[in-house]
Amino acid sequence: MENVTVVDHPLVQHKLSIMRDKSTSTASFRQLLREISLLLCYEVTRDLDLTIKAIETPMQEMDAPTLKGKKLVFASILRAGNGLLEGMLDLVPSARVAHVGLYRDHETLEAVEYYYKAPTDLEDRVVIAVDPMLATANSATLAVDKLKRSGAKNLRFLCLLAAPEGIKAFEAAHPDVPIFTAALDSHLNDKGYIVPGLGDAGDRMYGTK
Ligand code: PRP
Ligand code: URA
Repeated sequence: MENVTVVDHPLVQHKLSIMRDKSTSTASFRQLLREISLLLCYEVTRDLDLTIKAIETPMQEMDAPTLKGKKLVFASILRAGNGLLEGMLDLVPSARVAHVGLYRDHETLEAVEYYYKAPTDLEDRVVIAVDPMLATANSATLAVDKLKRSGAKNLRFLCLLAAPEGIKAFEAAHPDVPIFTAALDSHLNDKGYIVPGLGDAGDRMYGTK
């Protein structure tokens, strides 16, 4: 698990525990996901390169650090990825956005694609794929396959909960893509759900169950 960073900040852990609680309302779940995404975004962008720009403060000229290179790309794996995306865009409003529409077939647990739209110039950009759940990793693996086929070379994957099975599968498929997660859970159950988990992230976000 060399490629995995667990974001164990106390605020992240506290908010995540409230999200896991089955009595938490849809509105609170969505709000907490947005809040957590700001903290996770802070960690996943921690090592971005900076460059120096000459500016003038009201006091004097200075060489000021600014982000280097082209705008970031956030790639949301629909639907639930949008819960992370929205908060991340609050923090990095200039980021470009890719949408990868996938759902899990409940019988086979294979990811089924229904939509894909990404900026055309992914080659030179840092691309951060986001989805709250890394369970079997079928969805994350297919999403990253597609982003790579569109040219992405510098990728990270950000989630809220990961299962050991998913991490193993994702690392085998994409050893070059670091994973950032708020928690590493125990295992998958026989239906492919993360345990202890938080249930179905999309359903809890949008009240569809
Ligand atoms: C959930 C979740 C991930 C996927 C994870 O999406 O948001 O995309 O399952 O499972 P995996 O690692 O086994 O592929 P779901 O298919 O329920 O779609 P939704 O976001 O539209 O609810
Ligand atoms: N998708 C979810 O939303 N939850 C899980 O536990 C596994 C996959």
